[in-house]
Amino acid sequence: MKELVSIVKRVENIAENTYSLTVVLPESAGEIKGGQFLNISTGDNSRLLKRPLGIVKADGNEITVCFQVKGEGTVALSKAKAGDKLSVLLPLGNGFEIPESAKNIVVLGGGVGIFPLLPVVCGNKNKKFYTYLGFRNKNCACLTDEFKVSEKLTVVTDDGSLGKKDNAVNAYFSEIESVSADLIIACGPPVMLRALKLKLKENNVTTPCLVSLEERMGCGIGACLVCVCKKSDGGNARVCKDGPVFDIREVEL
Ligand SMILES: Cc1cc2nc3c(=O)[nH]c(=O)nc-3n(C[C@H](O)[C@H](O)[C@H](O)COP(=O)(O)OP(=O)(O)OC[C@H]3O[C@@H](n4cnc5c(N)ncnc54)[C@H](O)[C@@H]3O)c2cc1C
Ligand code: FES
Repeated sequence: MKELVSIVKRVENIAENTYSLTVVLPESAGEIKGGQFLNISTGDNSRLLKRPLGIVKADGNEITVCFQVKGEGTVALSKAKAGDKLSVLLPLGNGFEIPESAKNIVVLGGGVGIFPLLPVVCGNKNKKFYTYLGFRNKNCACLTDEFKVSEKLTVVTDDGSLGKKDNAVNAYFSEIESVSADLIIACGPPVMLRALKLKLKENNVTTPCLVSLEERMGCGIGACLVCVCKKSDGGNARVCKDGPVFDIREVEL
C-alpha cells in the first residue's frame, strides 16, 4: 500500500450524476486485484478525510475510478480539473480472489456496485462471465459496453427504460437453471445483497458467493474501526482491511 500524489488526467460525466476520474500516479502502485479500492482526497482542504472508491481500471501508472455524486466529497471530486493534485492511498482491501477452478462465473452488479466488478470481468480472460447489471433507469446506466466482454450480458432497470423491468438478482434467478455457475460475485446496495443472500438460502443454492460490501469508512487501513461489520459467527470484521470482499454466508447483511 502506498500514499502517492496523483495528477488528474480527466474527469468525464458517464451517466446521470456519475463520473469517471482518471489520475496519473508518479510511480506504479504495484499489482491491483479487481475489487480492491483506493482512498482519494477530494481536492478540498476543508475535507481532510479521503473517500473510498473501487479501482475500475489500472493501466500502468494510470488509475480510473468511477463514482456517483452523493455528498460534499464527491461533488468536489466531480469538479476536479486536469492537472489538479489528489492524494491517493492504494491499493486497499482484499479484492476478489477468483479460484483457478472457477470457470463459469455469475456477476451481479447493482448501481455503483458495478464498478469494482469490471476489472474482474476484464482481467480474467480464461473465464466465462454471465453478467447481470441493474440500474435505476436508462440515464443511470453506464459501462455497459465495457461489460460486453462477458459471455452473456443482461442489463435491467427498475423502471424498464433499458432492458427488462427487473433487478439483477431476480434476472439471474429467473434463468438460474440455464447458467451453471462455479462462483457468484456481487456488489450493490445492501438491499440487493440481502435479497441475494435470502434467495440463495430459499433456493438451496450452494454455489460459492463473494460479495463486496460498502460501509462508511474513516482511515481505510484497519486502524479506526469505523467500518466494522458483523460476521455470522458472532465476530466482527473490518470492511476496509478484512474485506471489502467476503463470503456472503459469513457476514450479516
Ligand atoms: C470499499 C468501498 C468502495 C466504494 N466504491 C465506490 C465506487 O466505486 N463508486 C462510488 O460511487 N462509490 C463507492 N463507494 C461509496 C463512496 O465511498 C461514497 O459514496 C462516498 O464516500 C461519499 O462521500 P461524500 O463526501 O460525497 O458523501 P458524504 O455523505 O458527504 O460523506 C460523508 C462521510 O461519509 C463517508 N461515506 C459516506 N457514504 C459512504 C459510503 N457509502 N461508503 C464509505 N464511506 C462513506 C465519506 O467518506 C465521508 O467521510 C465505495 C465505498 C466503499 C466502502
Ligand atoms: S475504515 Fe478505519 S478500520 Fe476500516
